[in-house]
Amino acid sequence: MKQENDRINHGPIGVFDSGYGGLTILRRIRRRLPDYSYLYLGDNARAPYGSRSFELVHHFTRQAVEYLFAQGCRLVILACNTASAKALRTIQQEYLPRYAPERRVLGVIRPTVESLPATTRNGHIGLMATPGTVASHSYRMETAKIDPEMHLTEMACPLLVPLIENGEAESEGADWFVAKYTRQLLEADPEIDTILLGCTHYPLITDAIRRHVPEKVKLLEQGPLVAESLADYLRRHPEIEERCLRGADCRYLTTEDPGKFDPMATAFTGTEVRSHRIDMENCASKVENTNIKHH
Ligand code: DGL
Repeated sequence: MKQENDRINHGPIGVFDSGYGGLTILRRIRRRLPDYSYLYLGDNARAPYGSRSFELVHHFTRQAVEYLFAQGCRLVILACNTASAKALRTIQQEYLPRYAPERRVLGVIRPTVESLPATTRNGHIGLMATPGTVASHSYRMETAKIDPEMHLTEMACPLLVPLIENGEAESEGADWFVAKYTRQLLEADPEIDTILLGCTHYPLITDAIRRHVPEKVKLLEQGPLVAESLADYLRRHPEIEERCLRGADCRYLTTEDPGKFDPMATAFTGTEVRSHRIDMENCASKVENTNIKHH
C-alpha cells in the first residue's frame, strides 16, 4: 500500500534531450544527487534539433515534457540547450500554469550563465552551440542580465551534433570541424579566455576542442553547473523535492531503436543501459499517474 501511494504521489526526475547529449548532464546530476530516481528521454528519432525551426523544437519539447509528466515526473530538466533556448520560456509561462501548475520544468542555460562571473577574468566569452541556440540569442540575453559589460561571441557549430549522434565523435571528420569552428571563434575575438560548451553533446568532444584551443582558454562544461544548480533548487523548493521519488535508479527511454541507443548510451554513461522505445506521437494513450489535460 505504501509502495502504491509512493508511486502515485511521487515521480522520477525527468531528464530530456534530443538525443545522447543529455546523458552528459544526467551523469553529473546522478553523481551529485545519487538518491533520486531518474527517467531519461532521448528523442533520437528526431535528433538533431539544432537546425530545426522554433515551432518544431517547441512542439517536440512540449511532447516530451507531456510524456514525462504522464510517467509521473513532477520535475523535468531540459538537458538540451536548443530546447531550453526555444521552448523553456513558453512552457514555463504558458503551458505549466494552465495544464500542470504543480509541476516544474527547468533548463540548462541560466545555471551555466550564472557561473560565468566566477570563471572569466577579462569578460571575453566564446559560445559554441547549435545554430538554433545561437539564433535564439538566449545566451546573449542571459549574460547581459548578469553583466552587461560581458563580451559574448557566438559560434554556430551545425555539424558537431550530427557527427556525435552518428558515433563519429572521435573521427578525423569531427576533429576537422572542431578545428574550423574553434579557429573562427578565436579569430572573431582573440581575447576570449573562456569557451562555453553550450550544447550538452559537446562534452563528448572536449578532448578534440582542447587540442585546438590554447591552454590558457578555459572550457566550461555544463554538467557540474546544472547538477549544483539542481541541488540548490531542490533545497529551496521542498514542495517539489518531496514529490521526487528516491530509488537511486534510472530508466531510459528513446524514440529510436534501443539496439542503437543502448551501446552508445552505455559508452557515454559508463553503466549498462537498457532502454525502452516509446512513441511520443501517441502520448495520450500512455498517460498514467496524472490528471494533466492533453490537448
Ligand atoms: N544537446 C542538444 C543541445 O544542447 C543538441 C541539440 C540538437 O539536437 O541539435 O543543444
